[in-house]
Amino acid sequence: MVEEIRRVGILTGGGDAPGLNAVIRGAVLTGINCYNYEMVGIREGFDGLMNHMPLVPLDRDRVRGLHMRGGTILGAANRGSPFAQKMELPDGTTEKRDRSQEAIERLRELEIDALIVAGGDGTMGISSRLRAIGAKIVGVPKTIDNDLGETDVTFGFDTAIATATEALDKLQTTAESHHRVMVLEVMGRDAGWIALTAGVAGGADAILIPEIPFRMERVFAKIRQINEAGRRYSLVVVAEGAHPHDGEQAYYIGEAGEAAARLGGMGNFVGAEITRVLNTEVRVTVLGHLQRGGTPTPRDRWLATRFGSAAAHMVARQEWGMMVALKGNDLVSVPVERAADVKLINPNSERVQMARDLGITLGD
Ligand code: F6P
Repeated sequence: MVEEIRRVGILTGGGDAPGLNAVIRGAVLTGINCYNYEMVGIREGFDGLMNHMPLVPLDRDRVRGLHMRGGTILGAANRGSPFAQKMELPDGTTEKRDRSQEAIERLRELEIDALIVAGGDGTMGISSRLRAIGAKIVGVPKTIDNDLGETDVTFGFDTAIATATEALDKLQTTAESHHRVMVLEVMGRDAGWIALTAGVAGGADAILIPEIPFRMERVFAKIRQINEAGRRYSLVVVAEGAHPHDGEQAYYIGEAGEAAARLGGMGNFVGAEITRVLNTEVRVTVLGHLQRGGTPTPRDRWLATRFGSAAAHMVARQEWGMMVALKGNDLVSVPVERAADVKLINPNSERVQMARDLGITLGD
């Protein structure tokens, strides 16, 4: 049945990525210009919906200039699934409750006829479950890690690799002056897209990614080989989710599997091992959230704007439960639940072989 759509909500969930504001602008301008929709923003992801935060009216004036702004004007929350809402109990303890029906009722109360949700695998999983209980949702995939299944590229990735490549360029000049090994830890929880792409673009000698467990001996051998050839500096890129063949991923807070756990520390481990075994000068840089912040690149603005605009058209076509995705150069619609499939780097792919052909070690 075709239902009338008048008011469309937008929500940004999960961690932010450069380009989210361009998605909002693309959706708002297309929704207003093509369909005369009233566009409204929900603050702070699903938390804002559940906690009755005031809506943000999104008209032309409100989205002016947003194409170039990093972050998200709506705020984002990594927590806040309506299926597992944290509740304070009278005895001071907390428990998680399924309040998903309230989310549906809240959308009805707010007279939101359709919801555009931009988010990563977690947010898309929630969207798919909300769709199953009646929410009219379309999805927009987002992550700087570029690891969402069903889309060839996510916005935010291009900005992240630009930042990581610039960091490598800067590290190289100082590494050369001081004859040092520079280790750069970049983001990439499950997949090494940022490490591999920026590593190749930035002339790294070793690139360690989650998909290929590494052996420190291979990294030592590479650095020795470089030194013997007369070059007295090297660059090592480590994805935060990389791990040795006989060890686990490194967490600086909590443990694997815990919601509050934070990956990080593998760069320092690799740096310390190089210092211990090669007795050479090593410095470690952890790039962290610099990769998530700042102005999106033109390529990310372009992709994010296309995604946002396409999402408004998908609302008009009532493609509920579908997510916009990039296949080759074209936009397609795919079921939101498929976004949860992680897109990993195939260790036998051309791109990995190319890195090996250049003389880069992947640590295996
Ligand atoms: O998934 C995107 C990502 O940037 C990961 O690479 C990283 O591990 C994580 O988010 C960091 O999340 P937070 O902002 O919660 O620390």
